[in-house]
Amino acid sequence: MKRMMIVVSTLLLGVGAVMAQQEIAVQQDNLMRSIAKNQYGIIQKMTKGDIPYDRKAVDQAIESIEADVGKIAKTFAINPKQDVVNATYGASSKVWQNKADFDSKIPPVQKAIAEVKGKITDVASLKAAYTAINDRCTDCHETYRVKLK
Ligand code: HEC
Repeated sequence: MKRMMIVVSTLLLGVGAVMAQQEIAVQQDNLMRSIAKNQYGIIQKMTKGDIPYDRKAVDQAIESIEADVGKIAKTFAINPKQDVVNATYGASSKVWQNKADFDSKIPPVQKAIAEVKGKITDVASLKAAYTAINDRCTDCHETYRVKLK
């Protein structure tokens, strides 16, 4: 009976760990989605004229991206060893093999943001800012993001 209980509680612990890992993967994915909501859902759409240019909305989007980018290193501290169920993108295991190099991809994004922050005054400067920031996002994605489907 005692042994049975140990087996059961060990199994439950295992289930808990799997759930926690899925939660970590979801948190990582949610952070990227939050960044994308501003970068693509607002800034890129304005550069294309899909939504009208609005300086206040741009400033808010830039601030949100800045805050989110500051959370990347910590949010990706632990390897969840699994992908979000049904996700299109996942993190490569290289993130945790080379965490210092992964983290080194963050300051260039922050620098690109700092250089344009408060200086975007029209669609032309928005386009330049979009590209400058996005190129730095790509520098990390090319090594550390995996397309799953
Ligand atoms: C230091 C590395 C790094 C930086 C910098 C970075 N990302 Fe990511 N991004 C990742 C990784 C790893 C993934 C895959 C894991 C995930 O989706 O959780 C990802 C996934 C994504 C996804 C896919 C989310 C999904 O599943 O639909 C989007 C969109 C995205 N990033 C946008 C951005 C944008 C925009 C920037 C720049 C402002 C950025 N990222 C900067 C590492 C980074």
